[in-house]
Amino acid sequence: MMESLKKVWESTEWGVGAPVIDEFEQCWAEYIGVPYAGSCVNGTEAITVALRATGVQQGDEVITSPYTFIGTITPIMTLGAIPRFVDISPDNYLIDTGRIEEAINEHTRAIIPVHLAGCPVDMEKVCAIAEKHNLAVIEDCAQAHGAEWKGRKAGAWGHTGTFSFQTSKNMSSGEGGAVTTREPGLADGIFAAKNCGRLRGGVWYGHEHFGTNLRLSAWQAALLLGQIGDLEAENNKRHENAIYLDSLLDSVEGVDAVAVNPEGVTHHAHHLVLFHYESEKFDGLDRNEFCKACRAEGIPVGEGYVPIYRQGSVSEFSNWNYIKPVLEQRGIDYSKEMCPVAERISGSEGFWIHMGVLLGSKSDMEAIAEGFEKIRRNASLLKNQ
Ligand SMILES: Cc1ncc(COP(=O)(O)O)c(C=O)c1O
Repeated sequence: MMESLKKVWESTEWGVGAPVIDEFEQCWAEYIGVPYAGSCVNGTEAITVALRATGVQQGDEVITSPYTFIGTITPIMTLGAIPRFVDISPDNYLIDTGRIEEAINEHTRAIIPVHLAGCPVDMEKVCAIAEKHNLAVIEDCAQAHGAEWKGRKAGAWGHTGTFSFQTSKNMSSGEGGAVTTREPGLADGIFAAKNCGRLRGGVWYGHEHFGTNLRLSAWQAALLLGQIGDLEAENNKRHENAIYLDSLLDSVEGVDAVAVNPEGVTHHAHHLVLFHYESEKFDGLDRNEFCKACRAEGIPVGEGYVPIYRQGSVSEFSNWNYIKPVLEQRGIDYSKEMCPVAERISGSEGFWIHMGVLLGSKSDMEAIAEGFEKIRRNASLLKNQ
């Protein structure tokens, strides 16, 4: 890694045109199993690029999950398009593919399945629905580097796949992103959208399309290039520990790991371990109190996402002068939105641990399970503290 950074330093080619950026893009495309990958500044803007490349415009509706990071929907809102939320499944906390069709109408243009926690959504189902209704599929793979659904990688199923290389991710350059595609037309659109509207192979001052500067630097590309080779082994190590932790939880009543090894998933990226918590089995200790106790025991859990439609960002968007009338006309009121499963998981039943923990030892997994059990034994003492 230091060697490749030194090479970038010595080349003095630190930005656009630096060979290491092309090299990273080619290696990432090859790894994902597609002909083209375009790097960009982050995973949020990767989605902007994908939306632009697929032609999503103001007023178009884009279906996605309410249980995700804000970065999934900020690009939709930035374009003046309208996010539509389909509830998640309690089995995996991913968009409930059985309910996507209910949300499709004449305004729908795209679906963004989010491979939350490194677990791929059933992409055969999503792609079949998209084909039937002529919709674009943009896979949000921010948490799913190397994940596979039935032998094909996340990012190689949809029209485009978007990645984040932000600090917390399985591969990181501090900030960074990429968009993958199998389709040459979309590759042109991706290149233009993140490169000031230029054509691939076109002239520097030719801005044939609408696009802005969202390019990755050579430093970031060099950091990422050095990590591709380690990703598979690290994901495998996380998988081994996730399976072991899951087995240990058989003896902890009231806490289950979610979708650790689900059918159809041939490679799980385990960006997070998602859990399901039953407070009744913990003497009524609520989820937030349980998480607080975990942290006091040194187990770094998080309570998880708030359903995204309840964020202030979405209510501000709802009041923009060119959005408000559209929402009113279509009867969309995000303040009354209710995805019951997402509400339940977010409010009282879900929690998670970040993937870094899964790179630890077997005894770390044992300490986690023991910690949960210790809290269960002492739940009545911990209540309302
Ligand atoms: C599911 C999901 N989508 C999108 C993003 C946005 O990525 P970035 O933070 O690189 O903009 C993230 C990152 O945290 C994410 O977890």
